[in-house]
Amino acid sequence: MGSRVIMWNLLGVDAFMLLLLFSWVFSALASVSYDHKAIAVNGQKRILISGSIHYPRSTPEMWPGLIQNAKEGGLDVIQTYVFWNGHEPSPGKYYFEDRYDLVKFIKLVQQAGLYVHLRIGPYICAEWNFGGFPVWLKYVPGIAFRTDNEPFKAAMQKFTEKIVSIMKEEKLFETQGGPIIMSQIENEFGPVEWEIGEPGKAYTKWAAQMAVGLNTGVPWIMCKQEDAPDPIIDTCNGFYCENFKPNKVYKPKMWTEAWTGWYTEFGGPIPNRPAEDLAFSVARFIQNGGSFINYYMYHGGTNFGRTAGGPFIATSYDYNAPIDEFGLPREPKWGHLRDLHRAIKLCEPALVSVDPTVTSLGNNQEAHVFKTKSGTCSAFLANYDTKYSVKVTFGNAPYDLPPWSISILPDCKTAVYNTARIGAQSSQMKMLPVNSALTWQSYNEETASSSGDDSITVDGLWEQVNVTRDSTDYLWYMTDVNIDLNEGFLKNRQSPLLTIFSAGHALHVFVNGQLSGTVYGGLDNPKLTFSNNVKLTVGINKISLLSVAVGLPNVGLHFETWNAGVLGPVTLKGLNEGTRDLSRQKWSYKIGLKGEALSLHTISGSTSVEWVEGSLLAKKQPLTWYKTTFNAPAGNDPLALDMSGMGKGQIWINGQSIGRHWPGYIAHGGCGDCNYAGTYNDKKCRTNCGEPSQRWYHVPRSWLNPSGNLLVVFEEWGGDTTGISLAKRTTGSVCADIYEGQPTLGNWNVLTSGKVSRPKAHLWCPPGQKISQIKFASYGLPQGTCGSFREGSCHAHKSYDAPQRNCIGKQSCSVAVATEVFGGDPCPSNMKKLSVEAVCS
Ligand SMILES: *[C@@H]1O[C@H](CO)[C@@H](O)[C@H](O)[C@H]1NC(C)=O
Repeated sequence: MGSRVIMWNLLGVDAFMLLLLFSWVFSALASVSYDHKAIAVNGQKRILISGSIHYPRSTPEMWPGLIQNAKEGGLDVIQTYVFWNGHEPSPGKYYFEDRYDLVKFIKLVQQAGLYVHLRIGPYICAEWNFGGFPVWLKYVPGIAFRTDNEPFKAAMQKFTEKIVSIMKEEKLFETQGGPIIMSQIENEFGPVEWEIGEPGKAYTKWAAQMAVGLNTGVPWIMCKQEDAPDPIIDTCNGFYCENFKPNKVYKPKMWTEAWTGWYTEFGGPIPNRPAEDLAFSVARFIQNGGSFINYYMYHGGTNFGRTAGGPFIATSYDYNAPIDEFGLPREPKWGHLRDLHRAIKLCEPALVSVDPTVTSLGNNQEAHVFKTKSGTCSAFLANYDTKYSVKVTFGNAPYDLPPWSISILPDCKTAVYNTARIGAQSSQMKMLPVNSALTWQSYNEETASSSGDDSITVDGLWEQVNVTRDSTDYLWYMTDVNIDLNEGFLKNRQSPLLTIFSAGHALHVFVNGQLSGTVYGGLDNPKLTFSNNVKLTVGINKISLLSVAVGLPNVGLHFETWNAGVLGPVTLKGLNEGTRDLSRQKWSYKIGLKGEALSLHTISGSTSVEWVEGSLLAKKQPLTWYKTTFNAPAGNDPLALDMSGMGKGQIWINGQSIGRHWPGYIAHGGCGDCNYAGTYNDKKCRTNCGEPSQRWYHVPRSWLNPSGNLLVVFEEWGGDTTGISLAKRTTGSVCADIYEGQPTLGNWNVLTSGKVSRPKAHLWCPPGQKISQIKFASYGLPQGTCGSFREGSCHAHKSYDAPQRNCIGKQSCSVAVATEVFGGDPCPSNMKKLSVEAVCS
């Protein structure tokens, strides 16, 4: 099109006419369509690489950097959900500011030259509170979520129309010159439809028709929805999707969620998905004819405030994604995928033109060849074996295929990439404490009791969310127990047994103001039972139960009907009468904490009470507010709070909620060795067992002032603030682990430049840091991984020479992986590699 514009200029068309002509031509061409092979943007079929970045899970100040990192990582598209409960906190009252400024986010993506896939939902799951639904929606009379229900459909349509109309007004759809090339209605509804039958089918049809009727001009997709009605494209979500087939031959094969890792739950270990396996799954999808892949997540981010779902989803939503929670590339995952995207893009002309021809190369090996009539040829060579490297012959040439790997040959000859041979560097990140000791003050939250005047009293037990409407995590349930002078247990010096059944999620039990115990559930089962002998005295005893919600469910059949809070029975056993049922007697309710009502987390609210310090500072005391101030550390490194020593609660900085902390919840379950080869699942390759599920809590830089930042912590269990510190996330060391002769994109440059290429170890420290030391180098048969390399049975004595010479004092460097560089071959006839670890400082 550029050349046409120049031609018109030469013809002497004036600027105004040119503009008119240009916009006419543009709108005539602007289109998004699809066929069996691929999505076509403006008539051009594309292999599209996409990644999920959820705008409220980072700050607007972080968005440009995240989008830029995504672009440099080889992405074409940014995918996001739309977060209904963030945008419509109460019916008809919309909010699109700050982290919820959806239009700003989309425009930033557009400015970076990328497309957008907008997943409106409005059900989004996403480990987000209530799956994205506003809690008020549950209390619309007669409503049932995600089925053929009129009140639900009316609300869903209204919000969907609201979002589409904003996008149209801002001209954000591709057909209007904007970046949105696709939308999504509903989300993973297929499994629900399968359970509920006819009403589900009717709802699917309705949702599809409603969406298509909005005339966005771009395609809609429905993920995990085998019966998605035309023209909506059904798509795949999962760790692997190579065998997925859309429901019509004229729809492209799309993978809307390629899971890059998994979420962390409080009480669970940290999931990790090896980069080699993720790359393998993507290459496998593409070699089987796939043409759209979206990484879920590409940047996971943080569940700030009370936005985490579950219940029990952690505050960190890092997801082991290619960009970490703090916005830094996670290496080698980020770089290994960038190289994969380059390799795939070299094959794009063949991939979008023809279906592959599949031939066997061995028992467990295949070639997928895309050859066009005009002779363009690209090939993928796959080894599905999980144990053995195999040497295959393809087109009369030999190729080494490591276990569980795919090599990519853009010209059907030159291997430029293998999914199990990482050319990108690895990084060892570290959390560096930056503040001198913090000086804390404390304030004791009162244990509420039934005599409080701000409580309501009724017969029996009420469901928690029904009372709080999720305005707070906390609901007090309070009742009185009268103990007669004649009670036998008083003489026998025995204590009655108090038993409490709760629908979840956590419960602190106070008897006469003293903490008698804490119980909590987990993601698998949020329900809990408290059963303890309690000390009761003659007369009125005050039972105060602080029931705590830890995020509302985001997935499950009619999860909107699931309960939280103390629903009973509540019984007292060991009285003269036997067992007394407390469930139906008078209970008083108090919503939230006193400190919440006083806004102790804000600068103005925090001055409304008397805080104590020094020797009076509360230690290991339940229900305590803490505050301190600190100055922002110099530099741009991302920041986090180390909450070691604390139990459970919430954190605020300058009035902004960092989220829920719960380092007291220790990760249980299995952690063990991690071999990239073989089918991945979310229980494989986990780390952090026996440690807090989450110790570090992201503090966005943009929430800080240069000095005097107010940090407020509410602690439920009782903790020790001496363990809290601010830290910055920096690169400790970087590593390369490169095999001789491994496929590299450099091989492609050989073809185009004629220069000889060998694999190289590339190392670089982030801006502001330099390589100060080569901590490890071995050319031969070294073992281990970055951070734990060790020499193997074969080691070139001059292994350190070249890395030290090329790298010390530099920000970036490279070392060729070739025998002569290391003074000769230490073990001929072995496949050698170079492992290097360099310290950045
Ligand atoms: C919900 O709250 C209302 C009062 O607002 C009460 O009448 C009703 O019984 C409660 N339902 C449950 C299940 O707790």
